[in-house]
Amino acid sequence: MAGGPSTPALVVAVNEAGAMGYLAAGYKTADALSEEFDQTRGLTDRPFGVNVFVPARLNRARDEAAVDAYRRRLQPLADKLDAVMPEPRWDDTDSYEAKIALLEEAKVDTVSFTFGCPAPDVVRRLRASGAQVVVTVTDTDEALAAVRGGADALCVQGSQAGGHRSTHRVDAIPNDLSWLDLVREVRSVTTVPLIAAGGIADAQDVRRALGLGAAAVQVGTAFLLCDEAGTSATHRAGLQEATLERSAVTRAFSGRPGRGVRNAFVDEYDAHAPSVFPVIDQLTKPLRAAAAGLEDFHLVNLWAGTRWRQAEPGSAAEVVGRLVGSTT
Ligand SMILES: Cc1cc2nc3c(=O)[nH]c(=O)nc-3n(C[C@H](O)[C@H](O)[C@H](O)COP(=O)(O)O)c2cc1C
Repeated sequence: MAGGPSTPALVVAVNEAGAMGYLAAGYKTADALSEEFDQTRGLTDRPFGVNVFVPARLNRARDEAAVDAYRRRLQPLADKLDAVMPEPRWDDTDSYEAKIALLEEAKVDTVSFTFGCPAPDVVRRLRASGAQVVVTVTDTDEALAAVRGGADALCVQGSQAGGHRSTHRVDAIPNDLSWLDLVREVRSVTTVPLIAAGGIADAQDVRRALGLGAAAVQVGTAFLLCDEAGTSATHRAGLQEATLERSAVTRAFSGRPGRGVRNAFVDEYDAHAPSVFPVIDQLTKPLRAAAAGLEDFHLVNLWAGTRWRQAEPGSAAEVVGRLVGSTT
């Protein structure tokens, strides 16, 4: 979970509880990732994964006008928050190549990719270094492309998932398929191991997923309130706010569809955000940071899946215990 929640402490706690944690590479520099990786490796002998964003091909000529229009729409809020929006960057701001080189060198157990399929050469290099390659998919076409591209396993992310939906095209309209339907569909077109994700919140879901033939489940939202998670205070407050009653999928914060608890920012800007990731993320970042400084959960991305009400404060070991059914 990029953007703060996934920390070395969370990965280690999840690992020690018998599950498998992932570090988030997204939005970080390669150096910051390297530091987190070394720290995690120093604290657990068990395998853990690293999740990487596949960069989008940006089309400045096509999208600049829409980005400028969105910027103008956000300007009054930026003024109110005393925040300065940056000039958008149209190159790779996520240091993808440097991260791949680092992960190849570091001999990571598993590298998972979101937002697309890595190039065949990247898959080959990572596999040669001993890593398993997982690709997140949201429909059968993406699943088939990922398998053709050499993925060892697929993370099958249904529409209830918190955070960004991993459609392989930025401008794709995400489907409404649940993890259950999606696992059935993807299972019918490929035999590679599947990891079910999106709204999995208790031991019953886990049993159902495994019963459908998933090899594993992936869970995000249930860990957001954990002691070991790096979830911000404002995000935690928003998740526990009784007056915020719905989740919604929106491009308003980043330009990519993501599910979060619906707040005033979503209501105001959802209809206007262009599909330009991560440029829109860069624009809204200072606004979100200023709002977080004011602990205003109406103006930050409260990423969470549909089952967010079931997330509870406590330890990651307790969450893993609930998911495997050893505690209630
Ligand atoms: C706060 C947050 C951040 C996330 N960041 C990432 C990410 O960086 N990479 C990724 O592949 N998935 C990310 N996800 C999606 C999760 O990997 C997973 O698909 C999702 O959490 C599963 O649904 P659930 O939240 O209902 O458990 C994120 C989810 C949340 C809630």
